Amino acid sequence: MSGESSTIRFKQADGSVQAQQADAPAAKTQPKSEVALGKGLDVGTANLLSAAQDESGEIVVKRERNAFLEIPAEFASNKDMLTRLNVPYVTFQNRMYVLGDASFNLANMFGKEVRRPMQDGFLSANEQDAIPMMRFIIERLLGQPAQPGEPCYFCIPAPSIDKENDTVYHEGIVSGVVKKLGYTPRAMNEAHAVIYSELADHDFTGIGVSCGGGMFNVCVAYKTIPAVKFSVARGGDWIDGHVAKVMGIPRTRATAIKEGDVNLTSPRTREEEAVVLYYRNLISYVLQNLKQRFQLARDVPQFEDPVEVVVAGGTSLVGGFVEVFAEELEKVEFPLKIAGVRRAEDAMTSVVRGCLIAAALADN
Ligand SMILES: Nc1ncnc2c1ncn2[C@@H]1O[C@H](COP(=O)(O)OP(=O)(O)OP(=O)(O)O)[C@@H](O)[C@H]1O
Ligand SMILES: [Mg+2]
Repeated sequence: MSGESSTIRFKQADGSVQAQQADAPAAKTQPKSEVALGKGLDVGTANLLSAAQDESGEIVVKRERNAFLEIPAEFASNKDMLTRLNVPYVTFQNRMYVLGDASFNLANMFGKEVRRPMQDGFLSANEQDAIPMMRFIIERLLGQPAQPGEPCYFCIPAPSIDKENDTVYHEGIVSGVVKKLGYTPRAMNEAHAVIYSELADHDFTGIGVSCGGGMFNVCVAYKTIPAVKFSVARGGDWIDGHVAKVMGIPRTRATAIKEGDVNLTSPRTREEEAVVLYYRNLISYVLQNLKQRFQLARDVPQFEDPVEVVVAGGTSLVGGFVEVFAEELEKVEFPLKIAGVRRAEDAMTSVVRGCLIAAALADN
């Protein structure tokens, strides 16, 4: 994975903090708050993740791609081979499906496209097998509850400002899946989860941004309470689609370039320049909407101190993301003083760790 861990500090009016960039090695998942009974679940367009505490108090995170593929009929009889290769599969309505990461590998072998249960952050309306397939993957990730009715905090996106989506339906379906597994489901906002995992030492005050495959989710919180939250139905998939189109290359190639060693501050090819262009456009779009939402919001509390901005999610992993984000943030002249912008230590697991921490805090 590319994407060094970096922080941009903003210079304050009194000159108290100098602009600086601190590179640090990507850290592994460490518990930041005390956690107890309860599990976390990140329901994403690209990835599904679970988080739980093991006996030694370590946080164990599991991940699977949110994808599946029907096994071609000629291979369907060979269950032994799939078992030997440790490929997760299920039989559903007399058909066999491979789930998660394995479906990607198999799709490449057969020159096929995987099917994806979600699009732009929500359950896909065009995918009739979406719910059962997601249920199978979530079951593999969560396992049995430690005791009946163990709480499971799962993330849901905020309604998108640029696409009509049914948050009630999405939340209801995921909640039902989690409940059927024996857990007590609790929904929480995706960007709020970033605040739980990354801003404990700032009294859970600041701005969390989850930069995913299907969308960007934003939450401004004051002492745990969200003041503003929204999402845009644009994310990594949107960048891939546009780069592929303007460059005349397959989508998978655009994704590979983006996930390669491109740095947004120093593109080397025309394709990389296109990646930068769409990244910058998306970040600017999100920040302009954040400013507008914040200005229109009622009952916004007084933020006494400059606030931290934390970005997380797979789309934030590209090199130079934090720098470009900080530049665009300065351009929009956001009405709050910003202390700095940083990437979550482990950007891919930030949301699910936040869900787990929320579960633990509610339990105490
Ligand atoms: N190193 C990388 N550089 C750039 N992008 C990356 C990198 N690794 C993964 N991505 C992108 O991250 C996205 C997936 O991120 P993530 O798992 O956070 O999304 P998600 O939570 O499943 O989606 P969403 O929250 O939008 O529903 C994909 O678009 C993928 O291409
Ligand atoms: Mg996500």
